[in-house]
Amino acid sequence: MKRKIKWKKSFYLRFLSLILVAAVLSGLTACSGTDGGSSEDLSSQETEEADAAKAAQLAEDEANGLFLLVNKEHPVDADYVPEDLEPIRYYAEDRNANSRYMRAEAADHFHRLVEAAAQEGIDIVMTTAYRSYEFQEILWNYNVSQKGEEEANKTSARPGESEHQTGLAVDLSTSEIDYRNSYDFENTAAGKWVAENAHRFGFIIRFPQNKTDITGYSYEPWHLRYVGETAAADIYEQNLTLEEYVEQMGF
Ligand code: DAL
Ligand code: ZN
Repeated sequence: MKRKIKWKKSFYLRFLSLILVAAVLSGLTACSGTDGGSSEDLSSQETEEADAAKAAQLAEDEANGLFLLVNKEHPVDADYVPEDLEPIRYYAEDRNANSRYMRAEAADHFHRLVEAAAQEGIDIVMTTAYRSYEFQEILWNYNVSQKGEEEANKTSARPGESEHQTGLAVDLSTSEIDYRNSYDFENTAAGKWVAENAHRFGFIIRFPQNKTDITGYSYEPWHLRYVGETAAADIYEQNLTLEEYVEQMGF
């Protein structure tokens, strides 16, 4: 008799434990179902939010003219002058003072770029940034007189076809090459730093290597274009030109 009771007790205890475990498990499932979703749901929600924030930032940057495409096929009006030009603080002394300007947001980001490089002991200055139509005309005519039209056309824009006129482009140099504009910039500490870091400040190398058929110009390691941090990250990661990016995004 005693034995039987013992057996029954143990049977009930096991049964009760099973029910308890089942209840706890179903409770946990119910909680996660009602209290904000599983971790999978959460991460897809976060991705959607990040995508929406990125789309909003790109729309704002587009409205702000940051993707304005100026090249041989897309000239800008001779009288186009950006409204928000601001002076640049870091420049090579022996260049045209009227070129030491960029659009406000680009100027601010250029200053941040130069200061971040300086923190790592790297010296970067601008040689020319904003150029008026008339100044570009002088440069183009000078280059043609020195190299002939065919050669000049590889690295110099005709007036109206230079994105320097947008106030969003800047040419760089450094003490290591005596502040010249030169292909040697690529192999300086500044040139290497710029190639790896410019996108973090919203700039791209506008005329990359092996993209002449798309950009219309030879590789220019010293020429940066401001497009904002969001687009610059995309362009850097996907190794695109501005032409390709604008087409891909439908801007
Ligand atoms: N060097 C670039 C193409 C310009 O002149 O705008
Ligand atoms: Zn340039």
